[in-house]
Amino acid sequence: MPEYDLIIRNGSIVDGTGAPARAGDIGVTGDRIEAVGDVLGTAKREIDARGLAVAPGFIDVHSHDDAAVIRDPRVDFKIMQGVTTDIAGNCGAGVAPANDDFRLFYERGFAPILGETELPWSTTAEYFAAVDAAHPACNVAAYVPQGVVRYNVLGQRKGPPDDAEMAQMQALLEEAMQAGAIGMSTGLVYVPGTYAQTPELIECAKTVAKYGGIYTSHIRNESTGVLGAVAEAIEIGERSGCPVQISHHKSAGAPAYGLTKQSLPFLAAARARGIDVTVDVYPYVASSSGLAAMFRTGREEAFAATPAIIASVKYNHEKYEGRYMSDIASEMDLPIGDAIRKLLHDEENSPSVIMFIMDEDDVRRVVVDDHSMIGSDGLPSGGKPHPRLYGTMARVLEKYVREEGVLTLEEAVRKMTSLPARKHLLKDRGVLQPGAFADIVVFNPETIADIATYTDPRQYPTGIEHVIVNGAVTVDGGRQTDARAGRMLRRA
Ligand code: ZN
Ligand code: CU
Repeated sequence: MPEYDLIIRNGSIVDGTGAPARAGDIGVTGDRIEAVGDVLGTAKREIDARGLAVAPGFIDVHSHDDAAVIRDPRVDFKIMQGVTTDIAGNCGAGVAPANDDFRLFYERGFAPILGETELPWSTTAEYFAAVDAAHPACNVAAYVPQGVVRYNVLGQRKGPPDDAEMAQMQALLEEAMQAGAIGMSTGLVYVPGTYAQTPELIECAKTVAKYGGIYTSHIRNESTGVLGAVAEAIEIGERSGCPVQISHHKSAGAPAYGLTKQSLPFLAAARARGIDVTVDVYPYVASSSGLAAMFRTGREEAFAATPAIIASVKYNHEKYEGRYMSDIASEMDLPIGDAIRKLLHDEENSPSVIMFIMDEDDVRRVVVDDHSMIGSDGLPSGGKPHPRLYGTMARVLEKYVREEGVLTLEEAVRKMTSLPARKHLLKDRGVLQPGAFADIVVFNPETIADIATYTDPRQYPTGIEHVIVNGAVTVDGGRQTDARAGRMLRRA
């Protein structure tokens, strides 16, 4: 009789592939799944999963936890929603590589999204080693952010790089890919990514393609110009040889409502031509980002027309956190544009904001699309963050599976597990099968719910009973343990 470290008994096994759930057990030895089905024998620990679903640990394909996994290695906001692997480095924003110019910029450039950090490393390899040394509770994989690379070489400069500068950028990308980055991300609405034009991005992506890495992009326009921006991402993939991922796909702002009816078939047509292009999506109608960046791209009229909540501030205006910008403006007795300028000035550009800019029909359409995967885009920057930081995975299972019935449980789980694992080159993860790493979540599909709200976002979902990371029980009976068994996952 085999002796296991852990057996999860009598669960409804949703294996991550999309196959129908089936009753059975999972046997774990060390950090691997050894048996799936009728597992005989005994174990040091048994978990009774009767009435519960047993799935591969969720993969958050769009995280901004680059600094958080070191600053706060319990990453409770991810672990407690069943996330066992976090993919960082999205939107061209990140923490490595870092020279002195970039360290100065980080504070006002990326800290509103990623939160505070010291940046004691220089190279991507050193940053990855720092993640390992922090022993985060979840696994971490990361993109090398093109915005960071560009800043290291060009600073705030707007023009294209010359040949020598391009060679320096390529060298930094090369170092990151050799260190095990899974690809390159861009954030083409943010400084400095917005200054990078298509030819520069194609050249950069060619270096990434040499290593089999993927190109992921917060595209240049997510509003009425979304189709052109999607076309640019596809072109960069096609001309560099990189698979493509479109970040947090949406069509934002009332004039753009419904454009996902065109963008999704457009992506399907690219796939039919042989291009590997997929998207990620978070299941909320509100976005969130740095207030300074959004004000710059969205301008005053958009802010006047859109409900916006201040999520976080760095200095002394915590009283504004969780409140509507329009209310803050009337309290300041200023027009909204002036109120935003004053807040940005007083808080040194640090505030982050939540904006209600999407139509639920678009969100649902992207969530249910066969080629979308779930990514929280959660911002671990303090204050009252967008509730997606805590609730994303649970909300998909609650709203789109249980309440609306527009996704099967198996299909929703596939979008959080095998689909992202395959796309993001995460070997032996995202499925429940013998030989795979024992990243597992046990949850109650009847009660799982996202209870985080815009005004009270720091709340764990209900219905997540057990979370296993590399064989270690990290949530037990709904409570997080002291286990910190996550690893930096370097591209194989
Ligand atoms: Zn983004
Ligand atoms: Cu993002």
